[in-house]
Amino acid sequence: MSGGGSRQSGSADDARIPADREQEHRAVKRSFRTRAIHVGNEVDPQTGAVVPPIHMASTFQQPGAGKWGTFDCSRSGNPTRGNLERTLASLEGGCNALAFSSGMAAIHGVTMILRSGDHGVAGCDLYGGAYRLLHKICNRSGISVTLVDMTDSSAVDAAIGNHTRLVWAETIGNPRLTIPDLHELARITHAKDALLGVDNTFGTPALLRPLEHGVDIVMHSATKYLGGHSDCLGGTLAVSDPQLYDELYFIQNATGAVLDPVSSFLVARGLKTLDVRVRAQSETASHLAVWLQQHSRVKQVFYPGLPTHPQHELAGRLFEGGFGAMVTFELDGSIEQTARVCESTQLFHLAVSLGAVESLIEQPATMSHASYDAADREKFGISDGLIRLSVGLESFEDLQADLDQAIEHSL
Ligand SMILES: Cc1ncc(COP(=O)(O)O)c(C=O)c1O
Repeated sequence: MSGGGSRQSGSADDARIPADREQEHRAVKRSFRTRAIHVGNEVDPQTGAVVPPIHMASTFQQPGAGKWGTFDCSRSGNPTRGNLERTLASLEGGCNALAFSSGMAAIHGVTMILRSGDHGVAGCDLYGGAYRLLHKICNRSGISVTLVDMTDSSAVDAAIGNHTRLVWAETIGNPRLTIPDLHELARITHAKDALLGVDNTFGTPALLRPLEHGVDIVMHSATKYLGGHSDCLGGTLAVSDPQLYDELYFIQNATGAVLDPVSSFLVARGLKTLDVRVRAQSETASHLAVWLQQHSRVKQVFYPGLPTHPQHELAGRLFEGGFGAMVTFELDGSIEQTARVCESTQLFHLAVSLGAVESLIEQPATMSHASYDAADREKFGISDGLIRLSVGLESFEDLQADLDQAIEHSL
């Protein structure tokens, strides 16, 4: 492996992987929860520590001039980051994974596959930061992007042209929680020789593994559920195709937005409890969605677990063990009243981001989606009355009471 980026695709024969352990996990088909704890977390051979140490070294001694060992420059590969990447690859069911310094760095890594003159198609129910990257940065390099409703397969098909190389969707759209049909998107995208990448941040690999549904690249903001405790930034990509991995690895190594060792450790620690956390948070979210739907001051609730959600059946086929822990609802009130509700909760913190143990509340129009042009916000239904909840691990009863008092006091 060299600092020049000659590392080859990750597979069981990658020099950093204790091949016997990896093969053992694959052979006995260990469960998601077991692999989250054991893959990439092997006992340290030097000390017997059951938690692998954090390797802070920025460079590693080489066997000779021009000779490369397993590690050299920490940007090109780091043992702690490598452990996390192995865990992720196993959980996503991919050949390998890459850990980036943030979710946006990971999405940017994907967009760097595109060249001047290329075209991308992305969902219109899209995180505001991704919208900004696609419309206000990628366009500087001659890349054009069309936003379409990812739940409308014929609209996606029509938007893909001769120069389209990438279709980008969120597995649970943001903030309206729309669900695209991944099989259908993969079929349409591949028929036109483009790549399908998805942001599975809201879905998490505990509930949905897009590579199993024909997706080429799955991305996460590890800042959210993977880390799970609002204490680190990170982003990940996982793929099934070794050649695509090599291309993304080359981009990451050449541009340098890698995850640091401490954050790699924190995300790896978060992954050990991901399945338990996400299932519990999803259950509370579904109770809150049902309760909100019956609230007299709530106009509409967006939650894939509700039978009234337009893609409820599809979500039931794609997701295992829950419909996620994000709930969006529209209040029957003005922008000021909506803001007041967000400012009046005591347990839900008023903050962007999501996916951690503490519940968060936000107003998409003025916060997570403020970087949308106002016209696009209106066109895509990001109304002033929308409130987005990230449901944490507190009890349902406490969260319900908190929301109830905030709504009653503010409207
Ligand atoms: C769905 C989604 N994708 C990507 C990102 C960007 O991730 P990060 O904040 O780690 O850069 C976010 C951030 O909120 C997000 O919500």
